[in-house]
Amino acid sequence: MNKARCLVTGAAGFIGSNLCEQLLARGHSVIGVDSFIPYYPRTLKESNLTVLQDSPNFTFHEMDLRDADLTDIFKDIDVVFHLAAMAGLVRSWNNFNLYMTCNIEVTQKLLEAARKSEIRHFIHGSTSSVYGRFATGNEESPLRPFSPYGVTKLAAENLCRAYAENFALPLTILRFFSVYGPRQRPDMAYNIFIRALLAGDQRHTAADISKIERILGYKPTTPVRAGLEAQVAWQRNLLP
Ligand SMILES: NC(=O)c1ccc[n+]([C@@H]2O[C@H](COP(=O)([O-])OP(=O)(O)OC[C@H]3O[C@@H](n4cnc5c(N)ncnc54)[C@H](O)[C@@H]3O)[C@@H](O)[C@H]2O)c1
Repeated sequence: MNKARCLVTGAAGFIGSNLCEQLLARGHSVIGVDSFIPYYPRTLKESNLTVLQDSPNFTFHEMDLRDADLTDIFKDIDVVFHLAAMAGLVRSWNNFNLYMTCNIEVTQKLLEAARKSEIRHFIHGSTSSVYGRFATGNEESPLRPFSPYGVTKLAAENLCRAYAENFALPLTILRFFSVYGPRQRPDMAYNIFIRALLAGDQRHTAADISKIERILGYKPTTPVRAGLEAQVAWQRNLLP
């Protein structure tokens, strides 16, 4: 694309900050917006921004999109990348209002501002969670969200479509599937595994059991796989 003036919502987050970096590297100018919602530490989000802040083409606004006046922000914008959201499935069972306002109401506010503006493209970051439990197919797969998070993201997609069709708003919806890499959110599986691997003080554990075998005839009979399967079944039963 020609050099564009981009608005990136959720710019201090994992995907948003990586996107801003790539846009700036390609010579585009970027206005980033984020409210530092504290479901993971603000310090992590601030450090996501450090790589961007030296660029003369990057402007950042700390702003909660739920109650912000978007008029000025939308002036002279070519492309909107809407990545701001409350992400994470499990937490969405406990704080539906936060998910509803950040994921649905904010999307509607942005679309409303977009249709009154001169933007050329609205790109909406959605999720494989709109498919529900079995998210392994293509975009023709049935849409059956299995969590309040997925429900709010599907509602946001539908709002995007309604605006696109009613007001000829150029729209692309991207459904991300478990994104990984530098700056990944601390609640995501790879981040948790890698942190545990780097911080667990024992690197390897494997007892020599030859003495108990020799003296008492002890022979473990449960293979690790079967033992772990039993543990998974037990933990599954603990889920709400
Ligand atoms: N990370 C993944 O694997 C993944 C997978 C599927 C979809 N997604 C989607 O991608 C987008 C980005 O996800 P992420 O993993 O980078 O999450 P993230 O939490 O790191 O980034 C989202 C950012 O949005 C901001 N935000 C939320 N509500 C806001 C509001 N009302 N006003 C201003 N800023 C607000 C948050 O403070 C946060 O910094 C989200 O829309 C998410 O649903 C992510």
